[in-house]
Formats: sequence, C-alpha cells, structure tokens
Amino acid sequence: MKIAVIGAGNVGGTLGRRFVGAGHDVVFGVRDRADAKVAALLATMKGPGEASAADNRAAAQAATLVVFTTPWEATQQAVESSGPLAGKIVIDATNPLVFGAGGSEGLALGFSTSGGEMVAGWAQGADVFKTFNQVGWEIMADPVIEGRRAVMFVAGSEGKGKQTVIDLVASIGFDALDIGPLSQSRILEPLGQVWIHTAMKMKMGREWAFSVVRRDKR
Ligand SMILES: NC(=O)c1ccc[n+]([C@@H]2O[C@H](COP(=O)([O-])OP(=O)(O)OC[C@H]3O[C@@H](n4cnc5c(N)ncnc54)[C@H](OP(=O)(O)O)[C@@H]3O)[C@@H](O)[C@H]2O)c1
Repeated sequence: MKIAVIGAGNVGGTLGRRFVGAGHDVVFGVRDRADAKVAALLATMKGPGEASAADNRAAAQAATLVVFTTPWEATQQAVESSGPLAGKIVIDATNPLVFGAGGSEGLALGFSTSGGEMVAGWAQGADVFKTFNQVGWEIMADPVIEGRRAVMFVAGSEGKGKQTVIDLVASIGFDALDIGPLSQSRILEPLGQVWIHTAMKMKMGREWAFSVVRRDKR
C-alpha cells in the first residue's frame, strides 16, 4: 500500500520507518524537502518498502492511506494543504494538547467533539480513524515488551477501511483492537493523556505501554 505520512518528526519518522519495514511504500509530507533532517530521516529507512518525501499535497494525493502526525495546532493547515482526501483512508495520530510552562497541560477539546472528529470535518469525504495517539513513539518503534504486544485501539467507521487500518496497526506489532466509531476518539485522546501524565509527570518513563489481560468467559 502507498502511505503518506504527513509530518516527519518523532511519530511520523517512526511510523514511516515501521511501515517501510512492513513492505509499504511511504511518502513523507514535509514543509521543506531541502531540510537536512529530511535526508537524514530517509537515510534511516530500511526496505523492503520505498521511502521518499514531497510536499503535503503531492504526498497525500499519491497515497491510498494518509497518516497525520503533526502538532495539533498545525493539523488543520496540514490537512487542508493535503488537497482533496475524499475516498482515502485517513489516520489521525495527533493529540489535541494544550501546552503551558510545565509542558502538556491537558486537552484542548473532548466532551462534545475530539481531535479525530475535527480532522474528519477538515478531511471531507475521507474515511477517518483515530489510532497511534495512545503511547509514545518509542513504543511504536517496538510494541513488544517482555513478549507481550502493547494494545493500540482503533476508532472509526465500520467497513473495509477499518480492517485495513487494524491490519496496518497489527503489522507493526501492536495488539490492534477496534473500539467503535470515530466519536470514541473522545476516550482515546484522554487515554493518551494517561500515558503522557504517567510517563512524564509521574516519572514512569517512556518505555511502558498499555496491554490487555483477558479472562475468557464468553
Ligand atoms: N511524541 C510522541 O510520543 C507522541 C505519541 C503519540 C501521539 N503524538 C502526537 O503526534 C503528533 C506529533 O508528535 P511528534 O512528537 O512527532 O512531534 P514532532 O517530533 O515535533 O514532529 C512534528 C512534525 O510535524 C511537522 N509539521 C508541522 N507542521 C506541519 C505541516 N503543516 N505540514 C507538514 N508537517 C508539519 C514538523 O515539521 P518541521 O520540521 O517542518 O517543523 C515535524 O516534522 C502530535 O500531535 C502529538 O501530540 C505524539
């Protein structure tokens, strides 16, 4: 599958590297292709998929699936500069964070809408999913800890797109679990806050993840 990863920072770079490793062709959507850090990132990609970089519009229009990994405050512009997304699968990996002097201080929205639903409003006609927002990029680089897969929930509408997203999330090592429609971003974004708060403020560090333990009584 051809995947556009819009934003090539910690999350975008890591996911792109994992997708290329899983055999997908990745085109990063970047603001400045001549930036030395873009060449440095591309040099870290190890096939079998291919990696390249383009502006947001060229990247997104070439792809079947588009992943947004931009800071929240840049995300509306990133979506709008990607051109028409109708008919494409879109993953919103962002967290709508508010920052203060001490770092992240909570979510900018959440009770009556969510970042995921805002992205769906900007990406008219796209099949939008919320996932990859719940743990740090270090876990995305390697989601298996002590032999157990970290869970990664997926919210979005039912249909072919959801299975594609679940398969993609599972292909890089996560225990991918469907959590229902996109409106469940309203609970996945606070879940991301649980990880950020414990990792940073409670000093648990960034090398931990959520995992599901299940007593099978069905
Ligand atoms: N960090 C984590 O562990 C983590 C985990 C889960 C979710 N998230 C969420 O994922 C998002 C990205 O986090 P991050 O840590 O990867 O941030 P980051 O390292 O700062 O990377 C953000 C990237 O977005 C790019 N960017 C900004 N505006 C853009 C635009 N209009 N078009 C294209 N690219 C643009 C930046 O490019 P420039 O170099 O040009 O500035 C940079 O490469 C945030 O919403 C965050 O809340 C983060």
